[in-house]
Amino acid sequence: MRKVILVTGGAGFIGSHVVRLFVTKYPDYRIVNLDSLTYAGNLENLADVKDMPNYTFEKADITDDKTIDALFAKYQFDTVIHLAAESHVDRSIMDPLSFVKTNVLGTGTLLNACRIHWKDHFDEKRFYHISTDEVYGSLGKEGLFTEETRYDPRSPYSSSKAGSDHLVRAYFHTYGLPVIISNCSNNYGSHQFPEKLIPLAIRNIKNSKPVPVYGKGENIRDWLWVNDHARAIDVIFHQGKKGETYNIGGFNEWKNIALIYLLCEIMDKKLNREKGTSAELITFVKDRAGHDLRYAIDATKLNRELGWKPSVQFEEGLEKTVDWYLENETWLENVTSGTYQQYYEKQYEKRV
Ligand code: NAD
Ligand code: DAU
Repeated sequence: MRKVILVTGGAGFIGSHVVRLFVTKYPDYRIVNLDSLTYAGNLENLADVKDMPNYTFEKADITDDKTIDALFAKYQFDTVIHLAAESHVDRSIMDPLSFVKTNVLGTGTLLNACRIHWKDHFDEKRFYHISTDEVYGSLGKEGLFTEETRYDPRSPYSSSKAGSDHLVRAYFHTYGLPVIISNCSNNYGSHQFPEKLIPLAIRNIKNSKPVPVYGKGENIRDWLWVNDHARAIDVIFHQGKKGETYNIGGFNEWKNIALIYLLCEIMDKKLNREKGTSAELITFVKDRAGHDLRYAIDATKLNRELGWKPSVQFEEGLEKTVDWYLENETWLENVTSGTYQQYYEKQYEKRV
């Protein structure tokens, strides 16, 4: 069946993996990647698929309703996979309103374009919203987030994502728009912007710079290989039921400090450094404001109903990730030149 799919945020980390998977796996689908190319968007991420006949790129902002309207008229999208967002918690603490604008207003603008252009003819239409486990708040030592867990976001990022999830459900209940939401745990893998923990630590270890660990490194995250997230999105997009929510996670909880020690070990091996060299770079710094203690996803619904499960063990995925960053020095140099330095200084200068 031919589809015309709008993917938003396709030049970012997860979006580029989703675009690559869909463009290569489904030659009959037309994939239009809409991205405003913020600091996190990078067309180099899609260099290998940019000339495929079923792929098109449109530079546009999801909050610009006139342009979104014109693009819906031009392409007649029948499905949307919405990933575009401001995605970094630390930046949301520095500049919360840009998160409200992109994540809430931007999602509302896309939903409204679907409502107007699809004109109640919703058969075969889908609005698939990619969200995060952070909307559920912070766990104590026990328990897991299920699809029924009450929303309790605590950062400007997570509350703006929660706001977008609520808008998506409102369009389902009010207008009957056929929506699906998935909430995923922390992703890692190639092409992640080095403001996030794993690529930031890889870069700093490589350059023998301090590796900043917030607080005591006791916070826990549930890590999933980005390619497994993209596979889950493929499965949910094709088989998920409208109006439903699916949690996606790695069944893979790590304390930050334990993860960093593992990464240091891998880096010592890859860089032929004496064991323990990289761990000397670990530097405990001032904690993140409102730092959520623990995230952990119960992804059994997705496994039971749609048969998905992660394919890669963490140690293997982390090693592949390290290899990718070490082999792609130019990519790393390009994304960390210019404004990255200003961000890094502002974020870390007074923390040590
Ligand atoms: P990212 O920051 O790497 O990429 C975001 C992309 O959105 C960039 O290409 C950027 O240019 C684009 N974008 C931002 N504002 C835009 C705007 N106004 N108009 C058009 N494009 C815009 O983010 P990511 O880590 O790939 O996350 C993608 C999505 O997945 C987000 O919605 C995020 O909330 C969600 N998510 C991320 C994770 C994770 O661990 N990274 C986990 C769960 C869910
Ligand atoms: O859980 C899903 C979320 O995971 C996504 O929705 C977000 O888009 C994504 O950014 C991620 O959020 P986190 O805040 O968990 O990811 P980050 O990589 O920023 O931080 C991971 C953990 O590491 C967190 O406990 C904070 C800590 N940390 C982070 C940085 C950048 C450090 O200790 N030092 C650092 O320098």
